[in-house]
Amino acid sequence: MSQSRVVHNQWSSRLAFLMAAVGSAVGLGNIWKFPYITGEYGGGAFVLVYLLCVAFIGIPVMMAEILLGRRGRRSPINTMRELAAAERASPVWGLVGWGGVVAGFLILSFYSVVAGWALDYVLKAALGAFDGLNGQSAGALFQSLTDSPRRLLFWHSVFMVMTMVVVANGVRSGLERLVTWLMPMLFLLLALLVGYAMAAGDFARGWHFLFDFDFARVFQACDAAGQCHFTAEPLLVAMGHSFFTLSLGMGAIMVYGSYMPREASIAGSTVMIAVADTLVALMAGLAIFPLVFANGLQPASGPGLVFVSLPIAFGAMPGGQLFGTLFFVLLVFAAWSSSISLVEPAVAWLSENRRMSRGRASLLVGGLAWFLGIGSALSFNLWSGDAYKVFGKTIFDLKDFLTTNIMLPLGGLAIALFAGWAVGRRLSEEELAMRSPRMYGLWRFSIRYMAPGGIVLVFLNAIGVV
Ligand code: PHE
Repeated sequence: MSQSRVVHNQWSSRLAFLMAAVGSAVGLGNIWKFPYITGEYGGGAFVLVYLLCVAFIGIPVMMAEILLGRRGRRSPINTMRELAAAERASPVWGLVGWGGVVAGFLILSFYSVVAGWALDYVLKAALGAFDGLNGQSAGALFQSLTDSPRRLLFWHSVFMVMTMVVVANGVRSGLERLVTWLMPMLFLLLALLVGYAMAAGDFARGWHFLFDFDFARVFQACDAAGQCHFTAEPLLVAMGHSFFTLSLGMGAIMVYGSYMPREASIAGSTVMIAVADTLVALMAGLAIFPLVFANGLQPASGPGLVFVSLPIAFGAMPGGQLFGTLFFVLLVFAAWSSSISLVEPAVAWLSENRRMSRGRASLLVGGLAWFLGIGSALSFNLWSGDAYKVFGKTIFDLKDFLTTNIMLPLGGLAIALFAGWAVGRRLSEEELAMRSPRMYGLWRFSIRYMAPGGIVLVFLNAIGVV
């Protein structure tokens, strides 16, 4: 089987694939999550581990996902199943696709709540609610949002409808044009914010916090009061985040790869996606931490970090009302282009197998994710008490931890093993079509040994074996 039947639309060009994949990768993970977990796990050491994971695990796994998707040309569930059959491997590999669909649901069910915060902040910014904020009042503003179940549920619903509308129309027509414009704008605005942080924040301290590698802090986590303790968690969280931020391990990039034109280079695209994604995250960190330090905030303030630190800056800078509104609008768009890819594997499968229209499929998928999301929204208010916690975590935290740190790396491990061992060398060599045999050899070594070895080591470390 060298070419599968094409059942879905394809991207119109190589650039369109690239933009969609960057749109999937760049999202709340970069701007909301990266800064706040970096703050919690002590800065530079965490950042270094995350960068290493992106380079040595994320890049080879992303290449594997794209090549499998493009070869299979179907939803991840069917792609895995059919490639396994064609390569005489066990049909059990189809489970990887199913795991990805479940992970996608669970991620969307908390992602949408955070995207809802950004929607709420668009209004706040436009109405001038940031004027004259300081560390304390910015914290109170954020808290008044998360304290209100009604507002959280309202915005969660709005965002879910937005996602479903684009998915129903098909990712190609829905997404392509949008992302081509918005990503560069987001980039520019972040650069501007970094500039502002240089001028008005404690830039040196922010820089050192992000980039000074202090080995003692590799195994350390801190709380909002600045108290730190020893734990193996940072390695696991940094690795999990490298999957989350690159949209790996659940089939999102695989399904986008299945719409990729044949002539585009997989290796080249992958490197560009990873670099763009990493740059956005580092820029967000460089914009936020100088302001955190200059305003007496704690780096480990938790999920509200971005929503507390940046509004202070917008409230103080000239033109802040405009820039603040623009920033949160772009953040919503970045989240939007990611959430679409979270449900695409499920919707593609439904429209292939059940012959369902995309409209119906997205209604079904969105409805379920919306329902699951109610628990995430209530985690911040009605259900924040200990009675509602499992392993000391709220529903929101639990879903985040389980998907990001367990399911995505496990999915990535399975994909690496499938692409490196279960599938014949001929298939991957042909599909990657790399000019240099040495580069192909490097990829093959990475996907067979380095990526799986790295993931297993981090898992073993987390359960205390290594
Ligand atoms: N990569 C997205 C982000 O950083 C989140 C995401 C994860 C999207 C997994 C798709 C799949 O915000």
